[in-house]
Amino acid sequence: MLFPSLLLSAAAFAGAAAAQGVSTYVNPAVPTGTPIPANYTGPLRPQVHYSPPTGFMNDPNGMFYLNGVFHLYYQYNPTGLGAGNQHWGHATSKDGYTWENQPIALFPPEEKQYVFSGSVVVDANNTSGFFPNQTNGVVAIFTLALYNEDGSGGPQTQAIAYSPRRGLHFRDPKVIRYEDHWAMVVAYSQEFAVGIFTSTDLKKWTWASNFTDHGLLGAQYECPNLVKMPVRDRESGEVVDEKYVITLSVQPGAPLGGSTTQYFIGDFNGTHFSTLDAATRVTDFAKDNYAAQFFYGVEGNQISLGWASNWQYTQQVPTGNNEGWRSAMTLPRASYLTKAPRIGWTMVDEIYDTAPILGDSLATKTMGNGSVTVDYADVASNALYIEANVTGIDVAKATSFSTLNLTFTSPASGESLRSGFYFGGRQPVLRGPRPAARVR
Ligand SMILES: *[C@@H]1O[C@H](CO)[C@@H](O)[C@H](O)[C@H]1NC(C)=O
Ligand SMILES: *[C@@H]1O[C@H](CO)[C@@H](O)[C@H](O)[C@H]1NC(C)=O
Ligand SMILES: *[C@@H]1O[C@H](CO)[C@@H](O)[C@H](O)[C@H]1NC(C)=O
Ligand SMILES: *[C@@H]1O[C@H](CO)[C@@H](O)[C@H](O)[C@H]1NC(C)=O
Ligand SMILES: *[C@@H]1O[C@H](CO)[C@@H](O)[C@H](O)[C@H]1NC(C)=O
Ligand SMILES: *[C@@H]1O[C@H](CO)[C@@H](O)[C@H](O)[C@H]1NC(C)=O
Ligand SMILES: *[C@@H]1O[C@H](CO)[C@@H](O)[C@H](O)[C@H]1NC(C)=O
Ligand SMILES: *[C@@H]1O[C@H](CO)[C@@H](O)[C@H](O)[C@H]1NC(C)=O
Ligand SMILES: *[C@@H]1O[C@H](CO)[C@@H](O)[C@H](O)[C@H]1NC(C)=O
Repeated sequence: MLFPSLLLSAAAFAGAAAAQGVSTYVNPAVPTGTPIPANYTGPLRPQVHYSPPTGFMNDPNGMFYLNGVFHLYYQYNPTGLGAGNQHWGHATSKDGYTWENQPIALFPPEEKQYVFSGSVVVDANNTSGFFPNQTNGVVAIFTLALYNEDGSGGPQTQAIAYSPRRGLHFRDPKVIRYEDHWAMVVAYSQEFAVGIFTSTDLKKWTWASNFTDHGLLGAQYECPNLVKMPVRDRESGEVVDEKYVITLSVQPGAPLGGSTTQYFIGDFNGTHFSTLDAATRVTDFAKDNYAAQFFYGVEGNQISLGWASNWQYTQQVPTGNNEGWRSAMTLPRASYLTKAPRIGWTMVDEIYDTAPILGDSLATKTMGNGSVTVDYADVASNALYIEANVTGIDVAKATSFSTLNLTFTSPASGESLRSGFYFGGRQPVLRGPRPAARVR
């Protein structure tokens, strides 16, 4: 049976205000209207990655960029150290690294109904009619999940609230602007489909197409994103085209275990997405980047943040018992597409402009095989940025055995961390000037 339309009731919220048009259940243990007090000085606290004030955080949600400020919302359990009791936490940043906690943005409408993932758009043209005299009104579109008395999952309805077919397990709407309309991707989690819907007013949505059975299925699809991305010449860094990317998270069922995010590069014409090739690509060949979302409202390279954890172990990490919080976000990434010899299409993720947070250089050294010793006892963040400029390698002759190896060793603890780069691997080696990773 067709599922032609979906009607969303008023989902307007401005800044820290709770959703209008729905009732709100506020757990007495959760403060309202003020950021949750936090202590970010503990030894396990990351200083350049966002982590929640207290409690448990998972997927990033509702991210948008407006007037020089990044807004990050996230799945948040303010009353426990594991997943559950989902609210939307909120933090803002001007540089993508230094975050200021804001009051909780969305509370569950009922005690047993939780606010799941979703997105936010800036309704600059008042298409929704919610914003009589504003050009900066934002609309949140998200999933509400009802839980039964026995704790089992009940129906999940779309973004505030009302869908003609309750009980369908589809969720995590992400909305973008496409020319004269809005386009939404939403996961039919259990059916391994991404539904694409369109709307002119953000309230009434019309089914447009399904993107079904692509890539890794895992046990379920979650958190799809659809984003327009520049295609850059691999050597010059110049923008030569633009394409669309669908990112899609699966959990469990990742090649390395637990949860992961894959992506597809293709064309989008406002209603249909078609891939450029048959490959399934993962955003990271590692375990800790899940459910990333792209900030709405960014031009050029697209900026994202993901949840730097994995459902396999996230509820056991020691920050919970030691310091009363769990999970961090990845660093912001600035992404573009390019086409490289041998591996073809790829999304290149660069760390977002670090200039605002970089301190003085601790050491530089020209070497082949060698080591550098630095004392960073005075670096309050404990965060180091390592840049290796490799010269003299004939990229065309690089094989999968050509590597740059980095071993980071602590003489204090005796621990070491090995990492590196395969010149013949997934990331194309970029020559020439690198494209700027700033928002504008
Ligand atoms: C899109 O996919 C979902 C999930 O399989 C399905 O329920 C729905 O009927 C599909 N829509 C159409 C119009 O085929
Ligand atoms: C913050 O946490 C640190 C480390 O856990 C602790 O030493 C310090 O007393 C705490 N500060 C406050 C104000 O609670
Ligand atoms: C606002 O309206 C302009 C002019 O019609 C259009 O180009 C633009 O895409 C619209 N933007 C949004 C976010 O509605
Ligand atoms: C916004 O939309 C509402 C409802 O359609 C309308 O009453 C209002 O005049 C609009 N405001 C602007 C500035 O377009
Ligand atoms: C919008 O602006 C108009 C003209 O300044 C004013 O008359 C009206 O009261 C304003 N509406 C709202 C809802 O603020
Ligand atoms: C978008 O692509 C679909 C599938 O190829 C096609 O049916 C539809 O007509 C296209 N729409 C536009 C506006 O080109
Ligand atoms: C590089 O240097 C380290 C430390 O001196 C040494 O253990 C290692 O064998 C060297 N590797 C190569 C390939 O020369
Ligand atoms: C590495 O190369 C970049 C780009 O040419 C340059 O800005 C940077 O200073 C170099 N870094 C080092 C440590 O040489
Ligand atoms: C560099 O790392 C790769 C991958 O772990 C490893 O196979 C190789 O032996 C390492 N090379 C050196 C010189 O340590």
